[in-house]
Amino acid sequence: MPISVAIDGPAGAGKSTIARSAASRLGFIYVDTGAIYRACALACTQAGITPENEAAVREKLTQLTPELRFIEGVQHILINGEDVSDRIRTPEISAVTSAFAAMPCVREFLLGFQRDTAQRQNVIMDGRDIGTVVLPHADVKIFLTAAPEERARRRAAELEAKGQPVVFDEILRAINERDKADMSRSTAPLRQAEDAVLLDTSSLDAKAAEDAVIALIKEKCGGEICG
Ligand code: DC
Repeated sequence: MPISVAIDGPAGAGKSTIARSAASRLGFIYVDTGAIYRACALACTQAGITPENEAAVREKLTQLTPELRFIEGVQHILINGEDVSDRIRTPEISAVTSAFAAMPCVREFLLGFQRDTAQRQNVIMDGRDIGTVVLPHADVKIFLTAAPEERARRRAAELEAKGQPVVFDEILRAINERDKADMSRSTAPLRQAEDAVLLDTSSLDAKAAEDAVIALIKEKCGGEICG
């Protein structure tokens, strides 16, 4: 049976950076499930469909075939054969994805897809409901978090490094809004699984957090893991 590691937590806690490098050290596949939700949101948005129109979203989902490809360890998300990995990262798609991700029909549509992916290989899968809903029997469950101010500070530094304008209060507001939307939705809300280990990265740099994740995986999975 392949090993599965579930990492959940709020936006900006460092899940993707940490999960990606830990997976590469261990030779696991890193699956960023947020990208899959973003891709569905992009496909609907491009078709002029909003989350308020549930019938249209349902109909659109029947026409979508998501696919993950791993090229040199990097995940690419394709929808109906088209690589949309870059186009899902705009602020507009970030803002609208929460509303699509709150829809039971969208979550149901993506559930089997995520489970199939984890059945085929050793994975570190990150998201919001991986330990609670998608992989309730994951070998390792980690809930990765950090204080909202620290998450906003990291996001601001990322944008600054890209030469983009930064308004700290605006970033913090967006983070708090996304947390609220992800935690208060009725279907698969963001919450820590009872058997997940809480890892607060507020005072850890990326390397220390990655080492902590690797140590947890080794502790739970024993000697078969090296990295
Ligand atoms: O991790 P991210 O920022 O790329 O996620 C985009 C959105 O998708 C975010 O609003 C939370 C939602 N999401 C989710 O509901 N469940 C997941 N497993 C992953 C992401």
